[in-house]
Amino acid sequence: MEEQQLPEFHRIPVRQEGEAPQLSAEEINEIDEERSHYECDGAAGLEALRIVQRKRGWISDESLRAVSAYLGIAEAELEGLATYYQLLFRSPPGTEVIQLCKSSSCWILGCEQLQADIIEELGIGPGETSTDGIFTLLENPCLGACDRAPVLLMNGELHTHLSGEKLRALLAEKRRRHADQSTD
Ligand code: FES
Repeated sequence: MEEQQLPEFHRIPVRQEGEAPQLSAEEINEIDEERSHYECDGAAGLEALRIVQRKRGWISDESLRAVSAYLGIAEAELEGLATYYQLLFRSPPGTEVIQLCKSSSCWILGCEQLQADIIEELGIGPGETSTDGIFTLLENPCLGACDRAPVLLMNGELHTHLSGEKLRALLAEKRRRHADQSTD
């Protein structure tokens, strides 16, 4: 019997082994909500990546391909966005994300030394994650707390008037907390 050709809208795409994963229904809903604010889908790329990262923790190659396929944006363009915006992670970040302010007030008051202390304590530079998977270091522009410089954000929590001593105590405290959690 001759195979009947189904109309385009009746063909359900079947996911092949090794194919990029689909976006979840929840992700699609949120992306659709965002894209409704833009004139073309291409402009929603950054928000779509943010949404996927919020759900999955970071943006894997597969996630990037799924966004690319859904919005019809070239993978290279999304890769460019993900590389430019350092808060989009292309590899799993640490559980503690340090955003060290590198703008003028913090620079005058010693953020370079703080960065050197972090490198010494954790063995990581900007954009890197410590081998224990706890800390990721990012450089940040002004965090809006110049009157309390130098400052950093750790998982969204602001730490002000930092000194090397305060920083080391903060890192030690975070390490202790993680050690306690892993022995619970
Ligand atoms: S310069 Fe660091 S908070 Fe403004």
